[in-house]
Amino acid sequence: MVIPRPAMLESVDSAPFTLAPDARISVAGAGASSVAELLRAELASDCSRSLTVVHEPPAFGDIAIVIADDEAPDGHDAEGYTLEVAAEGVRIGAATTAGAFWGVQTLRQLVPAECGSDPLTIGAVRIVDHPRYAYRGAMLDVARHFFSPDAVKRFIDAIVLLKVNHLHLHLTDDQGWRIHIDSWPNLTAHGGSTGSDGSDGGFYTQDEFRDLVAYAAERHVTVVPELDMPGHTNAALASYPELNADGVSPALYTGSKVGFSTLLSGDATTARFVDDVVREVAALTPGPYLHIGGDECQSTDPADFLRFIADAAATVARHGKIPAGWHEMGKSGDLPDGTVGQYWDFLTPRGSAADETLSFVRQGGSVIMSPADVAYLDIVYEEGDRLGQDWADGPTTLRQSYEWDPARVVPGLTEAHILGVEAPLWTETVETVSDIEEMVFPRLAAVAEIGWSPAPSDTDAVETARDFDDFAERVAHLAEHWEAAGTNFRRVPEVRWRERVSS
Ligand code: ACM
Repeated sequence: MVIPRPAMLESVDSAPFTLAPDARISVAGAGASSVAELLRAELASDCSRSLTVVHEPPAFGDIAIVIADDEAPDGHDAEGYTLEVAAEGVRIGAATTAGAFWGVQTLRQLVPAECGSDPLTIGAVRIVDHPRYAYRGAMLDVARHFFSPDAVKRFIDAIVLLKVNHLHLHLTDDQGWRIHIDSWPNLTAHGGSTGSDGSDGGFYTQDEFRDLVAYAAERHVTVVPELDMPGHTNAALASYPELNADGVSPALYTGSKVGFSTLLSGDATTARFVDDVVREVAALTPGPYLHIGGDECQSTDPADFLRFIADAAATVARHGKIPAGWHEMGKSGDLPDGTVGQYWDFLTPRGSAADETLSFVRQGGSVIMSPADVAYLDIVYEEGDRLGQDWADGPTTLRQSYEWDPARVVPGLTEAHILGVEAPLWTETVETVSDIEEMVFPRLAAVAEIGWSPAPSDTDAVETARDFDDFAERVAHLAEHWEAAGTNFRRVPEVRWRERVSS
């Protein structure tokens, strides 16, 4: 009953575990107490239980978290874990705090959603689990509509339950610039003052952003900041006339067209701008990646685009980060070694999308898969929905978001080239936290499972290799946890939702 489906789960011949009021969390190994504190806080908020964390061997009925080199499943030190539930206790073993933290997320799903009253029991089970891909991502567009630090933290809390470990923040676009840059303060003072449909706008101070990144890191989520360029830059162009060819700033933009703005190429002021914003954002970012967009540059001359991307990607590398970008960036043959491409064309690649994607591999990089017709969370679930858009061959049902495989999209792109998967949420129509959650859940559960769970065997068609009915049943179970946590989700017709349990 777990999403993502664990690599190995077997029931065990034992009476169930009962969480007694005096149960403790026993920790051993470096970092185990930090994971235990998060579990303690979750059991307090999810289930009104107050457990104590002890640095002692477990007694009967305790939950043990053990971090040691030999605790991870073989070959899966980075994020693998084991989880055993039996009458005598619960035991999570891992080689890292990340592995132990994912074990805790599995345990949270095994705990009944209605866990506030006794007895709280968990059926005996043994799980040995590890991810298929190192990168499981969700993207939040905070440029079209701005979302507060607290809203982003709530989003992080919700995605970690699915073992999503990267949060890509789309920080800049035509409609708004959302990260304060000390050396170019008008980017946020002016360029951050509006959003889509005339919404209020807003931005993160550098302290707020640092705090967000730290909050994510405590939960084993790496923030991937995106400064989209050279297109999608009207907010920057509106803030600084000197970034424009004619020295005149355009007005701020609150509509939803794309492809009309561009930074200049081979221009000294623009080069200084790019260097400054990349330097400041790189300094705020402990994670390895800095995303520079590169998508939908319809207003950039093709030769200028190549020059711009080569210069900007080199700037990112110079500031110590691995450049990432949408697959159009693969038009460039001058990318730093290891540059990551993000594929956002369809399940059947059109035009030059496949070749641009393979270009990252040819240049020593890897690829994140976000096929828009299945992995884009902003696409409507059904015709006529209040929220969302339908350009990417929409609607996109839960089944469609589940029945695909990252290694069978771009011919020639094999498992070893794929860093992972990501489900992006663009927010042209998305205004509130409740809107975010309605678009994201349950479809993110599908993409998270594709990123974590073992690959379907090569001989099967993806549609039959993925057992949608089994997945849908697990979604219905998970939804009880979403309800208990107050997380909104779309009650898609493909899932037999359980009767609402009153609390
Ligand atoms: C994109 O959807 N423009 C990457």
